[in-house]
Amino acid sequence: MKIKEFLKEINGSYILEKVLNKDRAWLFLNDELQVPKEAIEILEKVKSGYPVEYLFEEVYFYKDKFYIKEGVLIPRDDTEVVVERGIELVRRLGAKRVVDCCTGSGVIAIEIAKHTDTKILATDISEEALEVARKNIMLRDVEEKVKVIKSNLLKPQNPKEVIDFGFEVDNNLIKGEILISNPPYVENSWVKPNKYEPDIAFFGGEDGLDIIKRLIKEAKEAGYIAAIIEIGYKQKEALSRFLKNKVESFEFFKDLGGRIRGVEVLF
Ligand SMILES: C[S@@+](CC[C@H](N)C(=O)[O-])C[C@H]1O[C@@H](n2cnc3c(N)ncnc32)[C@H](O)[C@@H]1O
Repeated sequence: MKIKEFLKEINGSYILEKVLNKDRAWLFLNDELQVPKEAIEILEKVKSGYPVEYLFEEVYFYKDKFYIKEGVLIPRDDTEVVVERGIELVRRLGAKRVVDCCTGSGVIAIEIAKHTDTKILATDISEEALEVARKNIMLRDVEEKVKVIKSNLLKPQNPKEVIDFGFEVDNNLIKGEILISNPPYVENSWVKPNKYEPDIAFFGGEDGLDIIKRLIKEAKEAGYIAAIIEIGYKQKEALSRFLKNKVESFEFFKDLGGRIRGVEVLF
């Protein structure tokens, strides 16, 4: 197959740039050349449903490059609005202690740390996610500001690690000023986009709200001022009913596609 044919495929240009170590302009200038066998094999794997991000172990988020590997959720562009709201809220409240619960690859914590003055505790229950988040913190050079720890929502496995980083633990819950989270929030009946990303990153019970509800209860009990939580676009009504009379105020926000993507809560 010639380069010009390959470039018509989804991810074709990206795969060739990586395999040949050439830029896009070079590919277009040399599009009569034959594509190497390796690139064709990669394309076949991607077409069969294997995420291209896992193949090259890299993903772009908020204009930065991050490490990713199979078993950890691939960050989605839709989550960038959560980062933007997070940055805005941290600056507005002048917060110095933020928790990114369910951090996965760590991208939310890292971007908020890069764009504000706050320290961030990034937590997850999955060992694979913790390993990837730790690598990304080193890759993006924010080790001073972000610490990754194992925790079941706000219940840390080792409270000493939390305290050593300058945060408090009360009643076995991590205390902070602002909670940011993209938790699992998909209904259990949903069909995953591929079988390689972990179930634990997606499913939140029958209506998808089990983890979000637990998280809000824990954050309120631990005395957080505010929270920004990513949600599914169909969850606004059910979550409104849950939040009413429990928190001081809440406001839903949309992603770039104009769909409800998150909620900002003041406790
Ligand atoms: C939707 S992913 C979000 C990952 C990342 N924040 C992002 O936006 O790309 C949800 C993450 O929550 C983690 N998780 C699931 N249940 C958890 C729990 N009970 N406590 C802490 N983390 C949990 C999963 O391991 C997964 O990394």
